[in-house]
Amino acid sequence: MSVSLRKIDDTNRTAVLALRVAPEEEQFVGGTLREALKDAEKNPHANPWIRAIYADDVPVGFVMISWNVVPDPPRMIGPWYLWKLLIDSRYQRRGYGKTAVNLVAEIVRAEGGTELLTSYVAGEGEPWPFYKRLGFRKTGERDDNNEAILALKL
Ligand SMILES: CC(C)(COP(=O)(O)OP(=O)(O)OC[C@H]1O[C@@H](n2cnc3c(N)ncnc32)[C@H](O)[C@@H]1OP(=O)(O)O)[C@@H](O)C(=O)NCCC(=O)NCCS
Repeated sequence: MSVSLRKIDDTNRTAVLALRVAPEEEQFVGGTLREALKDAEKNPHANPWIRAIYADDVPVGFVMISWNVVPDPPRMIGPWYLWKLLIDSRYQRRGYGKTAVNLVAEIVRAEGGTELLTSYVAGEGEPWPFYKRLGFRKTGERDDNNEAILALKL
């Protein structure tokens, strides 16, 4: 099984728009690409970079990062901020999320980034254990939504 990141265009947009998380997970991430695209449109200064996550030729999720922004915490976290990550509920716990973050980390490292930041919403089923296993650590800071900020050294 090969995991890859692909651009979203007219050939795959409908399939990626159909991906979603379980209702109880919507508290951790806007439930669909449509919501992510709305967020991206509202925040062009956050320089959104979006890719679909594929397992072989099947779209299983998407990732959105802030691409090399000028940090202005707590409103703008960066320069490299993993903004949204979604693996469709049908495809979770198969290693796709982990591989996708590792692929993003490689891309950021190749651009000269030294750390990848993210943040998460706390609660039952929160993604902190997932990020911790990947090597993210809490920085002790919070963003303007009071989400704990995490950093992965690259
Ligand atoms: C969180 C999420 C991205 C993880 O992706 P995934 O493909 O299901 O996770 P993986 O299979 O790559 O898991 C990697 C490791 O983390 C663990 N893990 C994954 N999700 C976890 C969770 N919610 N709680 C505890 N551990 C978790 C896995 O067991 C696995 O452990 P291992 O390496 O010891 O086997 C995905 O479940 C998701 O989209 N969830 C809903 C939305 C969300 O919370 N997004 C993140 C915040 S923006």
